[in-house]
Parts: sequence; structure tokens; C-alpha cells
Amino acid sequence: MKNTTTFSIPVLFDVHSFQADLITWYSKIKRDLPWRVNQDPYRVWVSEIMLQQTQVDTVIPYFNRFMERFPTVYDLANADEQEVLKSWEGLGYYSRARNLHTAVKEVVAEYGGQVPSERNELKKLKGIGPYTLGAILSIAFDTPEPAVDGNVMRVMSRVLHIEEDIAKPKTKKIFDDVVREVISHDDPSSFNQGLMELGALICTPQKPKCGECPVREHCLAYEYGNQTDLPIKSKKKKQTTTEFYGLVIQNNQGEFLIQKRPEEGLLANLWEFPLMPKEEPSIEEWFKEYNGAEIKVNSKGETVKHVFSHVIWEIEIVFAHIKSGEIKSGQFVTAEELKDFPFPNVQYKMMDNIFRSNLG
Ligand code: ADE
Repeated sequence: MKNTTTFSIPVLFDVHSFQADLITWYSKIKRDLPWRVNQDPYRVWVSEIMLQQTQVDTVIPYFNRFMERFPTVYDLANADEQEVLKSWEGLGYYSRARNLHTAVKEVVAEYGGQVPSERNELKKLKGIGPYTLGAILSIAFDTPEPAVDGNVMRVMSRVLHIEEDIAKPKTKKIFDDVVREVISHDDPSSFNQGLMELGALICTPQKPKCGECPVREHCLAYEYGNQTDLPIKSKKKKQTTTEFYGLVIQNNQGEFLIQKRPEEGLLANLWEFPLMPKEEPSIEEWFKEYNGAEIKVNSKGETVKHVFSHVIWEIEIVFAHIKSGEIKSGQFVTAEELKDFPFPNVQYKMMDNIFRSNLG
């Protein structure tokens, strides 16, 4: 038999009154957010993808610019991937943008430009995992589907006193089942957004504002007084650190060598100053081997650090110039032209350092 953990909703939990209290509160206090002006599934979709791992305040200007540039699925489907990445620049987790782009092209090719409202069709689109699926179905199409992210797990773990470890992937299923049982069928959109809003504004990780909580009287953790002990979340593995040299290589016109990253993996298809693993013995020899030309290292600069979800990069900046030979990959651009390419944040940290050193 499959080993599945379940959770039973306590018999005294008044589901209807919980729904009513949550939805009434949400309709009174909901923030005026640009993706809430209508139920256009394309807008809801883009917003939910941007909001994964990113705060609402950060997303708002990106969302508005994105909608101005790509107002319909057709505009996005027809766009060049580099332009899509450029409009995502700084938001991080760039595979979100690439997957969204792929999926929108499929919506145009397979579904006549209409975002499907059918669960099984929507779920096949690239980048639409269980959370986004539930969010689009409930918010855009008023379907009672759970949309469980970390915030919703925090809220529901407190309300129902669920002590499962939310860091474990299988725990997500427990919360999906719980929300499926308690979600309002009359207004699933407000219910799910109410849970999100509660997690963002009231039921915060530290110092939840229980005095202002609309569902306090339903909350078991509040009753037991242990709301800040929940959710249970085991510590994730420490990220490993990888060290690089970040090579700022200029040709004799003072232009900089930049390269496009591989099509797969971390920061796929974004641009960068060449990164060389630090364990290599010689910068000049590594570069010759890797990219054909001879360089001369002039000096070393600061070290910049960037924390990704699983790894940390530490990049020591190295200033160099081309001595002879042709490069095999990448292109030389002026300081001014750098802004035309999509770069990840870690490269902007490098640029800050580079241009403070009066180069360019
Ligand atoms: N976080 C995730 N989805 C959200 C939404 N639709 N509104 C506000 N915050 C969110």
C-alpha cells in the first residue's frame, strides 16, 4: 500500500463560518493590485508566475511593464526570447520566463490563443505546476481548486494546527487535500486570494497580528497560544559555495567581452562576463584553452557574492585585456551597449564594481 499521510479536519471546525469570515474580510481589505483589475487568465497567469518566490512590491512594476510590452498572449508568443528575458531582468528564476514564453506559444498554437480553463489542458503547459494551476483555475475561472504555496501552508498549519514538516515535499499534498475540503465553492477566487492576503498581511512568519485576524476564532494555534511554533519547517541543507573569477576582458577599443550562457541550467540564455572556476591553476591558460585568445591579466578587483536557492557564487573580479588571437565565443560590446542584453543580478553586482573602478 502507498504510504500516504492524511489529516482530518476537526469535527468542531466550522467550515462555512471560516469561509464567510475570510471572504468578507478579503472583500473589505483586498489590495488594489494590477492583476486584480479583471479576471483575464493571461494576466492572472503572468502575475502568479512572477509572484513565485518574489514579493508583491517587487512584482508590481515588472508586471505593469510586462503587460505594456506584451498585452496579449499573441504579443508574448511572437516576442523574441531575449526580449522576454530582458523584461524579466532582475526578477530572478529566469526559467519561469522561458517556460511562460514556451507555454504561451503553445496556447496560441494549440488553443487558438485562449488560455485553457480545462484542468488537464492547463496542467500540461510548461511551468504550470500544482500551485499555479490552482491559482489560475480559481482566480481566473472560479473553479474550487487549491492553490497552496508556503504562505497558505503557514496559515492553514496554524488554523488547523497541522504539525507536518512543510519542508518535506510530500506535506504539500496534505495541505492540498485540506484546502480542497475547506475551499468555498461559491467564491473560490476570493477564498484563495483571502488565504494569500492573510498570509501576507496578518499571519506573517514572525509576530503574526492575531489581534487583527478575521479567522482568529477558528484558529487552533491561537487557541493553544503556539502560533509562532507553526509551521514546522526543518532546516534545508546549507548551500554550497562555488568560487569563480569573473573575467572583465577588454579589447584594444576598450570594449568588453560578454557571453551568452548555455541553453539549459541556471541562468540559461542570459549574458555574463566569462566566469572561470577558481580551482583552475592559471587564468591566462584557462582562457586560451577555453576561448582561443591570449589575454593578459592586469589586476584583481573586489569579490561579489550572490545567493541562489541552492548554491552561492563568489566571484572575484579580474581585469584583463586581449593580447592576441581571436575569441571563439562571445562578443565585444561597449559599456553603453551592455544595457541591451539581459544579465542576471549577480552580473549587475559585478558591473557596479567594474564601473566604480573607472573602467569603460
Ligand atoms: N501571492 C501569490 N499570488 C498572489 C496574488 N494573486 N495576490 C497577492 N499575492 C499573491
